Amino acid sequence: SRTLRIALLGAGNVGSQVARLLIENRTELAARAGADLELVGIAVRDVDAKRDVELPRELLTTDADSLIVGADIVIELMGGIEPARSYILKAVESGADVVTGNKALLAAHGSELLEATEQVGAEISYEASVAAAIPILRPLRDSLAGDNIRRVLAIVNGSTNFILDRMDQNGDSMADASQLARELGYLEADPTLDVEGWDAAQKATILARLAFHTSIDTERVYREGITGVTAEQIEAAKSAGYVIKLLAVAERLTAEDGTEGVSARVYPALVPREHPLASVHGGNNAVFVDAEAAGPLMFYGAGAGGLQTASAILGDVVSAARRHVAGGPGLVGSSHAALPLLSIDDVITKY
Ligand code: NDP
Ligand code: HSE
Repeated sequence: SRTLRIALLGAGNVGSQVARLLIENRTELAARAGADLELVGIAVRDVDAKRDVELPRELLTTDADSLIVGADIVIELMGGIEPARSYILKAVESGADVVTGNKALLAAHGSELLEATEQVGAEISYEASVAAAIPILRPLRDSLAGDNIRRVLAIVNGSTNFILDRMDQNGDSMADASQLARELGYLEADPTLDVEGWDAAQKATILARLAFHTSIDTERVYREGITGVTAEQIEAAKSAGYVIKLLAVAERLTAEDGTEGVSARVYPALVPREHPLASVHGGNNAVFVDAEAAGPLMFYGAGAGGLQTASAILGDVVSAARRHVAGGPGLVGSSHAALPLLSIDDVITKY
């Protein structure tokens, strides 16, 4: 059978698990993909760095550029904007499909990357970028393509959900809960991305684009983090039958002036205790979708973690491999500007 060359960029929390699973499960993956998936190299910054997962030394390289050339599928798990963006563009220009979990890059440069891949008939898949292990992007884009989504309510940041949950359930201070979140590896290297709501806003951007088939500028997504949430507010919410959750909301709305558009926003919200999102504890994520025909749907599971995220990455790799072998339509599509993004002032009385 055919052999596909897989290049992996990054061997951190997620990349090291992806490499391990590609090696250990090679036979099963080949049967499902219809092609042998050969991991040809892993680009890192420091080949001698100590890693939790032991990886074959001969696969590690600091020369990502050379690794990309000749690859059939490039998996980008370095994170950040540059050089990840340039490496992805180089990969698609050389005809490779790309799989990534890089929400920051997709939120900021998603249209550019999708256009570049479409131009050359390649594909970029990014199921892992939102809610890690939870399959949510493909259901939004494909399974619900025949329905009209009214609203997406989501807990998409595991660390802030963990912090608020500890404050609510255990009476922890925000500082103590944050320290615990760091020890569990939930926080980004720069924790302001989590606690100020940037990470959730990036994920809200990706969700809104797919749910409403439109282009969304992540800079204009309304964002409030959890740093202003106090123990007193959490107690008051509890007494009134609510729990405070950092929600990412994307919905079709009509603005005060009659403009129909999409509102995308991230803020600490009062969720009634009987709502399914109220029982999302710890570092878990959940995405609650309300569609016209389907009605309410809820997607729930691990929103962070190297192994859990590797599951979504490998799903995209197998799909990309099947496409290489059999041809056929792309699996993750681009957005078409149809609805304007409404500003928070346009919709302030609507929620
Ligand atoms: P890490 O910081 O743990 O790993 C990053 C890896 O990339 C490291 O191996 C590092 O090399 C390598 N790297 C970074 N810059 C370069 C460079 N310039 N050249 C070559 N290699 C480079 O990140 P994670 O594994 O946690 O995350 C990877 C991606 O997945 C990110 O986009 C993240 O947002 C996303 N993601 C992560 C989740 C999680 O739970 N961790 C969940 C969902 C998505 P070295 O090891 O030598 O330092
Ligand atoms: N820091 C992120 C979170 C990791 O807390 O959700 C997963 O994207």
